[in-house]
Amino acid sequence: MDVFEAMKGRLSVRKFRKEPVPRQTLLKMVESASWAPSAGNAQNVRFLVVEDKELLARMKGIVDEIISRTTGKNIAPDKVNSHNLFYAAPAAVCVIGTPYESSTDRILREKDPDRYRIRRFQVNPSLQSISAAVTQFTLAAYALGYGTCWMTGPLIAKQELESALSLRYPEELLAIIAVGKPDSPTAKPPRKPAEEITEFR
Ligand SMILES: Cc1cc2nc3c(=O)[nH]c(=O)nc-3n(C[C@H](O)[C@H](O)[C@H](O)COP(=O)(O)O)c2cc1C
Repeated sequence: MDVFEAMKGRLSVRKFRKEPVPRQTLLKMVESASWAPSAGNAQNVRFLVVEDKELLARMKGIVDEIISRTTGKNIAPDKVNSHNLFYAAPAAVCVIGTPYESSTDRILREKDPDRYRIRRFQVNPSLQSISAAVTQFTLAAYALGYGTCWMTGPLIAKQELESALSLRYPEELLAIIAVGKPDSPTAKPPRKPAEEITEFR
C-alpha cells in the first residue's frame, strides 16, 4: 500500500472482531514502528502485547475503578468506553518508553536548569520519538488490514497499570494501542485543510 493511501485511510477503530492478531503480524507492526526516527536514534520504546483475557480484564477493572473514583460515577462492568475499549480488542499493545537523555539535555541539566525544564518537559524529544514510532505502528497495522486505536485515556490509571504490568522505573507506560480486525465501519473525522495549518515565511 502506498504511504499516502495509508495516512489518509487509517482511522481510529473502537470495535473489533474477536479473531486474534497473529504474532508474526504484530511483530511486523513493531518492526515498522522501529523504522521511525528517534532523537539520537535512542530507540527508547518497547511494546508489550497483552492478549491474555484475564490481564485485560484486570487492566479494565483498574481503569474503571479510577474513573469511578475520579468522577463519582459507577462504570457498569460490561460498559465499553473511550477509556477502556482496549479490553475488547484481541490485542492491547502497551507502549513503554524509557526517558532518553541526550548530551544537550545533560549539559542543560547541569548548567541551566530553567532551559533544561522547558526542553525536557515541553519539547520532550524522548516522547516525540515514541509518538513517531506509534504513528508508524498504526500505519503499518492499517496497511496489513488491521484497525487500531491509539489510546491515552486508560492512562488516567497510569501508575496502577504500570504496577499491574510489572514495569520498573525508569520505564513508563505512555499509551495503549488497541489492535484487531475492525468490526463495524467508522468514519474518519474531517481535517483542517493544509493551507489553514501552514504558514510560509
Ligand atoms: C495521543 C492520542 C491519544 C488518544 N487517546 C484516545 C483514547 O484514549 N480513546 C479513544 O477512543 N481515542 C483516542 N485517540 C484517538 C483520537 O480520538 C483520534 O485519533 C482522532 O479523533 C482522529 O480520528 P482518526 O484517528 O480516526 O483519524 C487518541 C489519539 C492520540 C493521537
